[in-house]
Amino acid sequence: MNLIIRNAKLRNRQGLWDIGIKSGVIKAIEDNLPQKGEEEIDANGKLVVPSFIDPHIHLDKVNIVEVVRPNKTGTLKEAIEIIWDKKAQYTIEDIAERAGDVIERGVVNGTAKMRTHVDVDTIGGLKPLEGVIAARNKYKNAVDIQIIAFPQEGIIKDPGCDKLMWKAMEMGADIVGGMPANEHTPDDSKKHIELCFGIAEKFNADVDMHIDETDDPFYRTLEMLADETIERGWQGRVTAGHTCALAAYDDHYAGYVIEKVKKAGINIITNPVTNLMLQGRNDKQPVRRGITRVKELLAAGVNVSFGQDCVKDTFYPFGSADMLQVALVTAHAAHMSLPHEIEKVFDMITHDAAKILRLDNYGLEAGKDADIVILDALTVDDAIRLQPARLYVIKRGKVIAKSRYNRELCL
Ligand code: FE2
Repeated sequence: MNLIIRNAKLRNRQGLWDIGIKSGVIKAIEDNLPQKGEEEIDANGKLVVPSFIDPHIHLDKVNIVEVVRPNKTGTLKEAIEIIWDKKAQYTIEDIAERAGDVIERGVVNGTAKMRTHVDVDTIGGLKPLEGVIAARNKYKNAVDIQIIAFPQEGIIKDPGCDKLMWKAMEMGADIVGGMPANEHTPDDSKKHIELCFGIAEKFNADVDMHIDETDDPFYRTLEMLADETIERGWQGRVTAGHTCALAAYDDHYAGYVIEKVKKAGINIITNPVTNLMLQGRNDKQPVRRGITRVKELLAAGVNVSFGQDCVKDTFYPFGSADMLQVALVTAHAAHMSLPHEIEKVFDMITHDAAKILRLDNYGLEAGKDADIVILDALTVDDAIRLQPARLYVIKRGKVIAKSRYNRELCL
């Protein structure tokens, strides 16, 4: 074995375990591996988990909050508009550098896989894609990145964007994005979805759209997306991010849409850190939370995950690319407080996110990629509650980051 992790505590298993790794792959998990590893790490009974997955981030926009004007209304609309000037002046180097900073933070915090949206529109052209591809290449040994071509400014209302979307897919984007609510009319929203599916069919690509990121129940593109998914036979290949308006619908219509989402096999990604900040801005009291109906979706059997979404941009001024921090916020925002619900929150940044990225080689079992984190915690509850050190971050069998938090009590 190239590496053996000894005395690992694993989720849902009694006792301590040894994990044997060879050629970047987990070869064996046994209670006492007899072989000697070229390198050995003693986990000392600490919790060992598969690396985290961030299924929804915008690497092209990170770290710009200090160089643009402030978002005074705190709304999505103003956040988008502020970026226009900056986006027109983007350089590939600037994007790659900003994205790289967040990738490095994510890696140190135990994230081995990301799915990022990159803006595709007539303002920034394909520079965001080129910049993020450069960052992806630079960090290819540390993190696997799926790229979504994201027409944030609309497609029908941004003439020329459709051509750029095709070009983006040719240049190396993996997934077709969308933002159908950002069109002038519901008819245009429908055309937007149809155009995106046309591209997805041509490139045999999955679809991952920003859907109804608003408190306004007038926006109903989630139902349109579900209908189109079924019509095209794209079940299991489509993800809807944000879906905030679902929370604003009356219960009857929301239930009807959730049933369609389930039937279409659509994954949902909620982004509470950003949407707690952006939504409900026009509410008096009570101010709505602005996140989607997480528990109702889970109860219906829909696969749900969540992402960091934003780091220091016009939408959200914080963020440290730490999925345990996002998990803590999500548990609060979605009222997930019972023991099985806290476990579920942890699933959402591991196995449930892996379903969205459609990863076959993910998980802590023999035959899977050795993408592993050793946490300075004993339980999932403490991992989320205490935000502990990621003692070792292992990518394809190699240690790529270590952390030690020394907090000493000096009474
Ligand atoms: Fe987003």
